[in-house]
Amino acid sequence: MDIYETIHVRRNVHRFKAEQVPQDKLRKILDAGLQASSAFNHQPWEFIVVDDEDLIGRLAQYKYDNTLQGLLASGTPREEAENIVSLQRGAFKNSVSVAVTYNKGKLLALESTWNCITTIWLAAASEGLGVSPAYFPPHSQGYLKEILGIPETYDIAAILRIGIPEVIPDAKPRKSLDECLYYNRFGRKRF
Ligand SMILES: Cc1cc2nc3c(=O)[nH]c(=O)nc-3n(C[C@H](O)[C@H](O)[C@H](O)COP(=O)(O)O)c2cc1C
Repeated sequence: MDIYETIHVRRNVHRFKAEQVPQDKLRKILDAGLQASSAFNHQPWEFIVVDDEDLIGRLAQYKYDNTLQGLLASGTPREEAENIVSLQRGAFKNSVSVAVTYNKGKLLALESTWNCITTIWLAAASEGLGVSPAYFPPHSQGYLKEILGIPETYDIAAILRIGIPEVIPDAKPRKSLDECLYYNRFGRKRF
């Protein structure tokens, strides 16, 4: 797969087959993440692979509870919110979870760490693996940091759910380049 094809086939995959991700592939895609650019080359990331069933269950339930609370607070109707969070909880099933943490003391650490995540995600797509990042706002990470033993000086950029895709969703609509491309001044088009 060439890089453009990989970029175009990469999707947010929430449903995985009951098959284990081979360890060598997991190591290969995480290692690819280490090649990402980071501000000042600080490489502020550390990964925690979570393959313990009990811990994965706790992560899944926390994603469910935390996202449900956020969606309801922002006015999403309960039924719609419950559908969304069920998908989120389901994405932990048959997957290995990788918590991608970052050292908050490093400059531009979160921005750098998302570069690393994107690189892992693309590498996974080229290996035929599916990824879905689970995001948790920093103010709601206390429970996760406690159960994963993450030091106070670190936060979680995302927990990547990685597995063998069972369902690969269709691509979501994208902006066209003409919609968001200007010349010399915001809003100025050339045609
Ligand atoms: C900062 C960030 C946070 C995200 N958080 C979540 C999340 O919590 N749960 C989830 O399923 N997807 C999450 N995503 C994935 C996006 O929803 C997804 O990539 C986007 O809808 C486009 O779909 P595609 O990846 O299939 O093209 C996140 C992506 C980014 C960049």
